Amino acid sequence: MTEIQIDSLVSTNFFFKNQADFLRGKVRDVYFLGEDDVVLIATDRISAFDHVLPNAIPYKGQVLNQIASKFLDDTRHIVPNWKLAEPDPHATAGYKCTPYPVEFVVRGYLAGHAWREYSSGKREVCGVSLPEGLNQNDKLPTPILTPTTKAESGHDLDISYDEIITQKLIKKGELSKLKAYALALFEYGTQHADKQGLILVDTKYEFGKRNNEITLIDEIHTPDSSRYFYAEGYQDRQSAGEEQRQLSKEFVRQWLISEGFQGKEGQQIPEMSNEMVKSVSDRYIELFERITGEKFLKREYINIEQNIEDAINSYLASS
Ligand SMILES: Nc1ncnc2c1ncn2[C@@H]1O[C@H](COP(=O)(O)OP(=O)(O)O)[C@@H](O)[C@H]1O
Ligand SMILES: [Mg+2]
Repeated sequence: MTEIQIDSLVSTNFFFKNQADFLRGKVRDVYFLGEDDVVLIATDRISAFDHVLPNAIPYKGQVLNQIASKFLDDTRHIVPNWKLAEPDPHATAGYKCTPYPVEFVVRGYLAGHAWREYSSGKREVCGVSLPEGLNQNDKLPTPILTPTTKAESGHDLDISYDEIITQKLIKKGELSKLKAYALALFEYGTQHADKQGLILVDTKYEFGKRNNEITLIDEIHTPDSSRYFYAEGYQDRQSAGEEQRQLSKEFVRQWLISEGFQGKEGQQIPEMSNEMVKSVSDRYIELFERITGEKFLKREYINIEQNIEDAINSYLASS
């Protein structure tokens, strides 16, 4: 049997000039520089059910970084965002912001968590009421916001607007601005997806504050933060009660479930074969090309860590 040689960027351990803090997220390595700057490196780690999987996926970091980077550029007219530059295919540099403790989930369709709540009988999610008679993956009458609190560990929790205000997480005036921003971004994402023959099902935004200005942070409209369906045949599949064709990491979740892993305590995270890693990597590249409509240009993996460090250092020296 021939072994497929697979290179990936699992983690980084850089030390930049003025480095003030470092945070290892599930997927991103976050470098805080001085008072005002941050560099996010999207590694090739993959997470599912709030767990980092044992295998990394070649090019996944590049896919995520470049999708987010493109959409940050394309939505600047809607809301100011944190991005300043993309010094490397795996890295984005920009303003450090103080994150709001709430994530803004927007849903145009009844899928995932919202569907599970609905099918268990609930007709209200995060204070938003839903009509009777909806099926899984049906289009909602209008996009809804279902915010969650950022849990330090484990699963995020649903929260309503009233609770956000009574728990003093966000001021009323700011919350209404954030709602309007999240919905406007979702409208943009929906129209862009439509041009690509896709449906933006749901997505998650994070906002922060910088110099007292509301700023979009983190990633946007990536397959890690969003669910997409193929538009073609959507209605036929709904009418026939069939599953939708997803363009997201749902296929990884399905594989994990088939291997007996749903993120529950005591369950063993399965390892992927090299063939599986390669096919997940190919799927991510397919996602990139479908979502952006652009050709994916594979980066070089030889000396990848040194190259990323050099690229960021030369960006920092010139900025
Ligand atoms: N501009 C920014 N300023 C400060 N923090 C940010 C900014 N952009 C993203 N972040 C934070 O960086 C982290 C990104 O790493 P990620 O792997 O997504 O972490 P997580 O495991 O929390 O999802 C998140 O905690 C996110 O809130
Ligand atoms: Mg994240």
